[in-house]
Amino acid sequence: MRTIKDLKEMRAFSERAKNHGKKIGFVPTMGSLHEGHLSLVAAAKRKSDIVVVSIFVNPMQFGPNEDFKHYPRHLRHDINLLKNFEIDALFLPEANKLYPDKFAAAVEVGELSKKMCGKSRPAHFRGVTTVLTKLFNIVVPDLAFFGEKDYQQLIIVRRLVQDLNLPIEIISQPTVRDFDGLALSSRNKLLNVKERRSATILHKALSMAKTEIETGERDVNKILFRMRSLIGSEPTVRLDYIVIAHPETLEDVKAIKGKLLIALAAYVGTTRLIDNLMVDA
Ligand code: PAJ
Repeated sequence: MRTIKDLKEMRAFSERAKNHGKKIGFVPTMGSLHEGHLSLVAAAKRKSDIVVVSIFVNPMQFGPNEDFKHYPRHLRHDINLLKNFEIDALFLPEANKLYPDKFAAAVEVGELSKKMCGKSRPAHFRGVTTVLTKLFNIVVPDLAFFGEKDYQQLIIVRRLVQDLNLPIEIISQPTVRDFDGLALSSRNKLLNVKERRSATILHKALSMAKTEIETGERDVNKILFRMRSLIGSEPTVRLDYIVIAHPETLEDVKAIKGKLLIALAAYVGTTRLIDNLMVDA
């Protein structure tokens, strides 16, 4: 596994691979890797000739009062995990190289970025789509891998590559969960023991809604009310939003019909977690 920090060197590495007819699979991450990230790396290994993983905690996607400073960083541990996968390159760009002094451009995916997480994190997806456009231009992948855990991000990235004609196939992988249902997240490392226990309420609420829909409940408001009540029973958990939405437009639905996204965000203590489930009514 080659570790590359320099942007030009990364680009040259990819161009050499492409000249040899190799298909490049790319897994962008912010590090503090867990089995969720590793499922993307495994998928990239299966589907590509050359696998590039990036680790970059992107300051542009954090709001002024968010956890950029406290975001978990475990580079040595990450490198050890990646060694088991025999990936080809680990890209570790530096913030002052990706965002030099005069940096002013941004890439934005309109409406989709304003819904759900976009309401409480207004500049978040702009930061995500800008850094991904930059990383895509440097790594020039054929395939890029994203988790369904960050469902809104996945939909926005699909729209980004489609609208800007980026020749990259976006491949998604299912959410990897802990033994008790909690979706794996680098931010879970920020939870104390009590918070970690309370956090399972999020998946319980999603599962409850899914079961209700699958057993015939058709009243959106009743489902949302019961989810809110269940989550409200955990004093350390403060809900940011819950939606039952169309899985492509992310618009709230009025009727329970067809394929639906149930998604939520909540603060557990001071840590913001997100999760979602798909259901077919
Ligand atoms: P990060 O949170 O590190 O996630 C990197 C990738 O791992 C994303 O595609 C995310 O959806 C996926 N992932 C995280 N937890 C997962 C889980 N439990 N199961 C399956 N996949 C999971 O998402 C980001 O970083 C950043 O926004 C990034 C795209 C790198 C841009 O900065």
